[in-house]
Amino acid sequence: MCTPVRRTYSAAMTGSANEHDSARIDPSVPTPSHELGNRFGGRFGDPANDGSGGPARDRTTPAGTDPIDAVDAPSSLTSLTRGAESPDNPGAGTDLTKESESYTHGHHESVLRSHRRRTAANSAAFLLPHLLSDMTLLDVGCGPGTVTVDFAERLTQGSVVGVDASDDVLESARGLADAHGTKNISFEHANAYELPFEDDSFDVVFAHQLLQHLSDPVAALREMRRVAKPGGFVAVRDADYEAMTWYPESAELTEWNMLYHEVTHTYGFEPDAGRRLASWVRDAGFDPATIEPGASVWCYATPDDRTWWGGLWAERCTESNFAVQAKDSALADDVALEQLAQGWREWAAAPDGWFAVLNGEVLARA
Ligand SMILES: C[S@@+](CC[C@H](N)C(=O)[O-])C[C@H]1O[C@@H](n2cnc3c(N)ncnc32)[C@H](O)[C@@H]1O
Repeated sequence: MCTPVRRTYSAAMTGSANEHDSARIDPSVPTPSHELGNRFGGRFGDPANDGSGGPARDRTTPAGTDPIDAVDAPSSLTSLTRGAESPDNPGAGTDLTKESESYTHGHHESVLRSHRRRTAANSAAFLLPHLLSDMTLLDVGCGPGTVTVDFAERLTQGSVVGVDASDDVLESARGLADAHGTKNISFEHANAYELPFEDDSFDVVFAHQLLQHLSDPVAALREMRRVAKPGGFVAVRDADYEAMTWYPESAELTEWNMLYHEVTHTYGFEPDAGRRLASWVRDAGFDPATIEPGASVWCYATPDDRTWWGGLWAERCTESNFAVQAKDSALADDVALEQLAQGWREWAAAPDGWFAVLNGEVLARA
């Protein structure tokens, strides 16, 4: 029986650097970016640098020209090979034209079970009043496509394209569209940093729960703006992990939330994306007068919802890419992850269990 690598809950609450250090079993593993300052461009280390990546790029300038790497790069290498920014190597941390970033959740069945519940109504309500039936819409990071197909069924005279960096989820999305008999839709493999479309192509460019998984969300937003028609909509929505709240109190869920932050920061991503969306959109060069920030909440409290949400997170703690990355980073081991999974199962079984996911939203004009 091995000893859990994960530090204890009470120690975790104090969050000192020494505790992080003592939790590591191998000094060669990646150091969490919030301890590294500027390693990933300073987004997490330097409060004065919000990771905007500099001034907005002209909307007619093509995105980066690096070749696209294989999407299935080994997860444990990706954030490290991106290269540390340094005075001799400025911008290395923002060489993000490749698909080398490792999507934290991966596409384990427990992850897809979460995404498949999503509809345009429960995930894009802020955009729906602006849709006209003949519009063209691009869904960036469409995943298994449930929201994308829903859009296509609403845009009866228009058309929808879903893009994602994972061929597996694209297959799943195509299967869903076929099962629905949806004709005005297509799915393509694409990298959010290098969308394979001409400037000014779409009336609406949408991304749901994508920007939190990108190490340069501002660059992706510039690219979304490039392919949107002038005056067209760019709409983004992302969860904010720090703002998630639940009942009853659970040491394991608190620990899970902290671990999630540490893992995503280690890989250069921002889990508290919701609160930052408006700032990122502004930094991407959108006219501030057109930016409409907002928020909305998913809430899971019925027995069915608790079984679904608690069950899928229990599985994600031990089976998904999140578990792999937590272990690769030496932030947790199997025993600790199983404890977190058990916490999720206990929360799901609590008759008064309640969980709220705060999502930031922004609607802006290209
Ligand atoms: C949390 S899922 C959201 C899926 C879908 N939008 C939804 O809400 O159901 C994020 C998706 O973004 C995709 N993704 C991650 N990085 C990407 C990139 N650089 N370019 C395109 N897609 C990417 C992942 O493969 C994943 O399917």
